[in-house]
Amino acid sequence: MIGRMRQLDHRLPQVAVPMATAASSLLSKPCYDYMMRNTVRFLREFVCHPKRTGAVISSSKILAKAMVQALGQPAPGSVIVELGPGTGPFTRALHRQLPDQRHIAIEHNGRFAELLRQRMPNTSVIEGCASQLPKILDAAGVASKEVAGIISGLPLISFPPTLRTDIFTALAQVLGHGQPMVQFTYSLRCFRRLCPPAFTLEPHRRILLNCPPAQVVILRLAEACQPACV
Ligand SMILES: C[S@@+](CC[C@H](N)C(=O)[O-])C[C@H]1O[C@@H](n2cnc3c(N)ncnc32)[C@H](O)[C@@H]1O
Repeated sequence: MIGRMRQLDHRLPQVAVPMATAASSLLSKPCYDYMMRNTVRFLREFVCHPKRTGAVISSSKILAKAMVQALGQPAPGSVIVELGPGTGPFTRALHRQLPDQRHIAIEHNGRFAELLRQRMPNTSVIEGCASQLPKILDAAGVASKEVAGIISGLPLISFPPTLRTDIFTALAQVLGHGQPMVQFTYSLRCFRRLCPPAFTLEPHRRILLNCPPAQVVILRLAEACQPACV
């Protein structure tokens, strides 16, 4: 994925300039300025930490809406955990679509975490690594059984295998049987290969209106598996 992004680097101006021109004529000025600031911030983080950021621009509103829909209707009082919120497209969609939902966002990049706190002061944003999920929830006073689902923007495909294994192990410790982890990927084939057998993978929806087009998938802990299976 990252390799392909790098190959596309030299073509970015050819794509970005017409897109920016079209966007400026379609959007109001404050909306356009916000979108451009977001894009520049995201691109800067991608250049500094390509593998951890995993995308050149943040997800579209349409993808964000589909990700939240895939969570279903969480039980009242339960908690949704968001991993890798970045500049917050899924965070905003969660607030819009599930306004009364308890929600904790865990972001590794301190600049994104700070930005999200400023933009969404009502959201509990924790700076930390998804591989430490059980400890982070413990410190936040959230029991695993309160977690109704996880929504993740983590670029799992571009992570080193050890980090990925640590994250899947952490997820298996927190997710009860049946609770969804909603994830998106740009390559379903690669994602299937790296998904450990401890999880079942259900392709949910393909979203073309995202750059690049993305597949929403739902992972669940397989019936027979315990966290040690990962
Ligand atoms: C592909 S971006 C997705 C951002 C946003 N959810 C979106 O869809 O636009 C991946 C995000 O995961 C964050 N991230 C990377 N590694 C992480 C980790 N180990 N724990 C938590 N967040 C992480 C990155 O900083 C980045 O914000």
